[in-house]
Amino acid sequence: MDNDFQEKILEILRASPSGLQMEEIAFQLGLTRHTVAKYLEILRAEGRIHFKKVGRSKLWKEISTTTNIRILGMNDLEDILRIEERIEKERDFHSPERMQYLKETARYHLQHGDPLMSLGAEIDERLVGFIFGEVRLWEFGRGEKTGWIKVLGVDPEYQGKGIGRKLGENLLGHFQRKNIKKVRTLVDWHEGNLISYFKSLGFDILNMIPLEKELKK
Ligand SMILES: CC(C)(COP(=O)(O)OP(=O)(O)OC[C@H]1O[C@@H](n2cnc3c(N)ncnc32)[C@H](O)[C@@H]1OP(=O)(O)O)[C@@H](O)C(=O)NCCC(=O)NCCS
Repeated sequence: MDNDFQEKILEILRASPSGLQMEEIAFQLGLTRHTVAKYLEILRAEGRIHFKKVGRSKLWKEISTTTNIRILGMNDLEDILRIEERIEKERDFHSPERMQYLKETARYHLQHGDPLMSLGAEIDERLVGFIFGEVRLWEFGRGEKTGWIKVLGVDPEYQGKGIGRKLGENLLGHFQRKNIKKVRTLVDWHEGNLISYFKSLGFDILNMIPLEKELKK
């Protein structure tokens, strides 16, 4: 029964992407405010809905329907770094050098890259995820155009809610419209979550061997 009400609340919120107040949800369901408040809190804890304060009241929204994918600009640089910092803190790993390289990479893509290859996910005007891709014309001796996904990240608070998928699918759509037939990326062997993520987007292992040489001082 509890699940039924939660699903109904999600349904009602999906049908009103601009958000609803608790009283409106209670009215539509014929439940008391107190009962609806309990379900809203459960759904919020599960990360499926969130609220925006408008004056003294809260506007409840379903997360996946309010996620907007848009082209990133230089104004987003600080937010991209904020997201990466939160990801690294979550993993108990922080490297100033890595952050500096991400800053330079992001700046390069934002200033010189194809705008359709630098995408952000936004909820209520707050950036919660980013993805950068590019088209390469020649690599590994193969004269073909390939799409590359270079870097992506979703704010830990919003992970596991379909935002990464939305970003990935949008970028793949842009590659496809540019007549790109293959999209590649590199993932460390031990990054199981990231491998699952790319597998869920339809990626498979490439039959090439990446080679590396360490240059010693
Ligand atoms: C990997 C990442 C981008 C996925 O984004 P997300 O919004 O959390 O992912 P989604 O909710 O859209 O999930 C899409 C699919 O990815 C897979 N997935 C996502 N997170 C996963 C996890 N922790 N474990 C296993 N699979 C996972 C699932 O298959 C999922 O499909 P499903 O919803 O059908 O189960 C995000 O978790 C992230 O930013 N991770 C850390 C950053 C990072 O490692 N960046 C790479 C450096 S370039």
